[in-house]
Amino acid sequence: MTLLGISGSPRRGGNSEEVLFSFLEGAAKKGCETEFIRLNELNFHPCQACDRCRDTGKCVIKDDMQLLYPKVATCDGLILSTPIFFGTISAQLKMFIDRFQCWWHAKYRLNRPFISSAEERPSFFICVGALKKKEYCESAEKAVEVFFNVVNLKSQGSLCFRGYDAKGSIGDDPQNLKKAFLCGEVFARKIVKSDGGSP
Ligand SMILES: Cc1cc2nc3c(=O)[nH]c(=O)nc-3n(C[C@H](O)[C@H](O)[C@H](O)COP(=O)(O)O)c2cc1C
Repeated sequence: MTLLGISGSPRRGGNSEEVLFSFLEGAAKKGCETEFIRLNELNFHPCQACDRCRDTGKCVIKDDMQLLYPKVATCDGLILSTPIFFGTISAQLKMFIDRFQCWWHAKYRLNRPFISSAEERPSFFICVGALKKKEYCESAEKAVEVFFNVVNLKSQGSLCFRGYDAKGSIGDDPQNLKKAFLCGEVFARKIVKSDGGSP
């Protein structure tokens, strides 16, 4: 069982990544294999709305997203993490999400989704912002919820931490990372169960 953790932060080892790492550690403790990807280190472009994917469900842009499509299609669970930037998700994560417009066509026009909704494959969302504004997290959650729906991943919930700005400050309250670790453990159990194995 492979769990794919994708970070949308430009800050290596920043707050949202720390939360993601703890989550993945929790899942690994319960037997999941984990893979971590930092979008900021990939070479990819925003969706060009060229619509050349409408009859195939496949994006024609030849960049690093071509490595990510099969990973998302085959992972057993997907975790997305992002800092809050200007009241919503980072540009890196938005670019990643928009590039799944081809999957929108695959699902709604071609009736050939890359992931079957019947599988109920689990997903989870993590965000960290400096300000204690609930609306920012809600805005970020909304964007990611639309993505999870389009690609047929079933959201198991989210962890949104507010009030953390400086790099590493998320660890000032040790219960934050502990909570992420526990969420990872719970998430892993979900994967093991949906796979038919024993928890
Ligand atoms: C370009 C930019 C925009 C930001 N906008 C917001 C914002 O709108 N609301 C907020 O609460 N924090 C905002 N922040 C602060 C980050 O969300 C905060 O520092 C967070 O901890 C960064 O997470 P990271 O270390 O995972 O990148 C912004 C930071 C940057 C660099």
